[in-house]
Amino acid sequence: MIWHKQWIFGNWKMNGNQADNAALLQGLRSVSHDNAHIGIATPFPYLSQAVQVLADSPIWVGSQDCSQFAEKGAYTGEVSATMLKDCGANFVLIGHSERRTYFNEQNQILRKKIDNALANDLIPILCVGETLEQRQSGQEMAVVAEQLAVLQGLSVNHIAVAYEPVWAIGTGVVANAEQIAAMHAFIHKEILSIMGENVTIRTLYGGSVNANNAADILSIDKVNGALVGGASLKADAFSAIIANAQTE
Ligand code: 13P
Repeated sequence: MIWHKQWIFGNWKMNGNQADNAALLQGLRSVSHDNAHIGIATPFPYLSQAVQVLADSPIWVGSQDCSQFAEKGAYTGEVSATMLKDCGANFVLIGHSERRTYFNEQNQILRKKIDNALANDLIPILCVGETLEQRQSGQEMAVVAEQLAVLQGLSVNHIAVAYEPVWAIGTGVVANAEQIAAMHAFIHKEILSIMGENVTIRTLYGGSVNANNAADILSIDKVNGALVGGASLKADAFSAIIANAQTE
């Protein structure tokens, strides 16, 4: 069922504190929408708080990353997918552009993270997207194809990908409808050719999604949801985006 709704997921990034989170989570508890599957990716220390407050809600809680290392061991500072599952997580973002940029995460490491997530029954949401320079030089499809190649040989029936053009993240600049439609169609086509015709796909658009542009973005063909940064930090703004989820 969730694989046939639009996914409206929030990425808190490195934001929050226990008091603000409590208010935000309480505000989200009552939010629902027949067409939307809702999730939030919290910083690691707040995951358990979110799981607790949202315990009897259908809202998914997840993290923004997981370790490339499996289970446990001498990896100071790392958090394994096993631990995330143990704390009640449902999903994990993999390869967000900020991790690719600041931590130089590339396919080899990202594939380990995807494998660890899946081994622990967490849904990985693979984030892809080109920089402005790459788009200006006409490389956007090639870049995204290379990022999607991390899925080669993966044996799953369902896959979730977030298309987040780097130049649209946190900038207030949203990709236009033609750019979004073309890239989402390309991602669907690529995934079907990599993973086989029977795979069920969710492609979320991310990058400056807000209450004012959500309706237009969510109505674009092959946009199966949104990954929301800044606007997911306020319950009313996030709820207003959720209210625009479309029947597919
Ligand atoms: P903004 O919505 O703040 O642009 O962030 C998008 C994003 O990076 C979500 O993962």
